[in-house]
Amino acid sequence: MSLEVTDLVVEIDGRRVVDGVSFAVPDGARVGLIGESGSGKSLTALALMGLLPEGATASGSVRWNGREILGLADREIAGIRGDEIGMVFQEPRTALNPIRTIGRQIAETIRIHERIDRREARTRAVAEAARVALPDPERIVDRYPHQLSGGQRQRAAIAIALAARPRLLVADEPTTALDVTIQAGVLRLLLSLVESDGMSLVFITHDLAVLAQVATEAVVLADGRVVESGPLGTLLTAPTSPITQGLLRDATATLWRGEDEG
Ligand SMILES: Nc1ncnc2c1ncn2[C@@H]1O[C@H](COP(=O)(O)OP(=O)(O)OP(=O)(O)O)[C@@H](O)[C@H]1O
Ligand SMILES: [Mg+2]
Repeated sequence: MSLEVTDLVVEIDGRRVVDGVSFAVPDGARVGLIGESGSGKSLTALALMGLLPEGATASGSVRWNGREILGLADREIAGIRGDEIGMVFQEPRTALNPIRTIGRQIAETIRIHERIDRREARTRAVAEAARVALPDPERIVDRYPHQLSGGQRQRAAIAIALAARPRLLVADEPTTALDVTIQAGVLRLLLSLVESDGMSLVFITHDLAVLAQVATEAVVLADGRVVESGPLGTLLTAPTSPITQGLLRDATATLWRGEDEG
């Protein structure tokens, strides 16, 4: 199960906000997309999933297991989304449906590829809630998103994204909106699930220190273009692009600050 992105271009109002991005995610790989705010990370992820905002157009190629999925009809891409490729976004509030219980939203993902009755759906939802370590899973599945804390909401969003056991997870800044004290826990959870399910991962962040905990390969974006890519170790020890060098300085500064506070 591999993803291959070749010369991806996204245009909004005639402006190329993603400008010829290429990278590959071989089976089981964990690839980080990193870059400053506005560098085109989210639009790259949204283009892969056929979720670009109104007015944005994509060209180039996105191959999933050899099959071209860029430009597929909504109905076809919707079958791949959720079932084969799961997504977690920065702000869980936008990913969750405010008027449906957590349990129902988990069941909806399972139902993409399995026929299950109401009772079975509930049992499965409780099991998925427990898997992401939501407290009191039997009860929390009956709650609505606004009745959960920020960290719990992101755990619920992860449960929904992974309920169908996708082969690839695309996570766009999944911990950035969370309180620092709960970021690490959510990140650890995400990684342990990626490992236990043997999923591939595309992880988006602007923080090289976070990426270092997650990815094996990294793609550095600036102004919609890839400025450097390769094994994470190389980027950390011998970055060639000034952009990567800047991200490394930021990450190091954060680590030093953390040490001072400790
Ligand atoms: N809906 C939109 N309409 C117009 N321009 C947009 C839209 N969404 C994004 N852009 C522009 O496209 C560029 C890339 O945006 P994108 O959201 O991919 O950046 P990003 O790297 O994810 O940034 P961040 O780290 O802040 O999330 C930015 O210049 C942004 O202003
Ligand atoms: Mg973004």
